[in-house]
Amino acid sequence: MTSRCILQTTLLLYFSTMALAMSNDLLRSQLSSSSLECQELLLQLNGTTEYCLKDRINFEIPEEIEKSRQFQKEDIILITHEMFQKIFDIFRRNISRTGWNETTVENLLVKLHWQKEHLEIILEDVKEKENFTWDNRTLLHLKKYYLRIVQYLKAKEYSICAWTIVQAEICRNFFFLNILTDYLQN
Ligand SMILES: *[C@@H]1O[C@H](CO)[C@@H](O)[C@H](O)[C@H]1NC(C)=O
Ligand SMILES: *[C@@H]1O[C@H](CO)[C@@H](O)[C@H](O)[C@H]1NC(C)=O
Ligand SMILES: *[C@@H]1O[C@H](CO)[C@@H](O)[C@H](O)[C@H]1NC(C)=O
Ligand SMILES: *[C@@H]1O[C@H](CO)[C@@H](O)[C@H](O)[C@H]1NC(C)=O
Ligand SMILES: *[C@@H]1O[C@H](CO)[C@@H](O)[C@H](O)[C@H]1NC(C)=O
Repeated sequence: MTSRCILQTTLLLYFSTMALAMSNDLLRSQLSSSSLECQELLLQLNGTTEYCLKDRINFEIPEEIEKSRQFQKEDIILITHEMFQKIFDIFRRNISRTGWNETTVENLLVKLHWQKEHLEIILEDVKEKENFTWDNRTLLHLKKYYLRIVQYLKAKEYSICAWTIVQAEICRNFFFLNILTDYLQN
């Protein structure tokens, strides 16, 4: 009886560790393919880069993102969720002057939304189960960063050049997001 219990407990432990290990790997590959798909869709939205140099601006992406600081798994979920959410909010804005293919933009929005929702579920689960000290400073830096992007678009009245600059910036976002999620390896 006792040994059966021990065996069951061992098995249970083994399987829960397995599930955790798998979900890390699974999440990483999922985030990485989402990010790649979004990047490809973004690249399909052509712009007029050479005429937009005067509109260039440094949005000052948070240093911890740019320098690829190593985050804990919980923070990676929190941070990538914020990024997908904010990028989704940005591309829902007025693109009427860009001449972008609306189907491509729609596909991008669908992808962003799906990934954002998926991360939300995981995030809620983590918040329920764990007593984790969140890195809210990075989150705050990110919120300010995306606010600067939105303010820029508004100030430029959603011009084609402004959108071209923002599109390039968000492409860089996915590059950093990919490095960030690499730390999800076990
Ligand atoms: C984008 O590409 C389409 C089709 O290739 C073209 O008609 C359009 O003029 C391009 N837009 C810009 C801003 O370059
Ligand atoms: C988007 O911008 C265009 C051109 O500036 C404007 O005519 C249109 O009303 C705007 N649409 C929305 C929904 O704000
Ligand atoms: C927009 O993109 C879709 C999918 O890539 C394509 O089928 C469609 O022809 C494009 N529309 C225009 C107006 O270029
Ligand atoms: C969470 O951690 C803090 C600090 O370590 C501790 O004071 C608190 O009691 C913990 N809460 C729960 C629900 O474990
Ligand atoms: C930090 O962020 C987490 C996740 O969004 C949130 O649950 C928590 O309340 C925040 N803590 C503080 C002190 O703001």
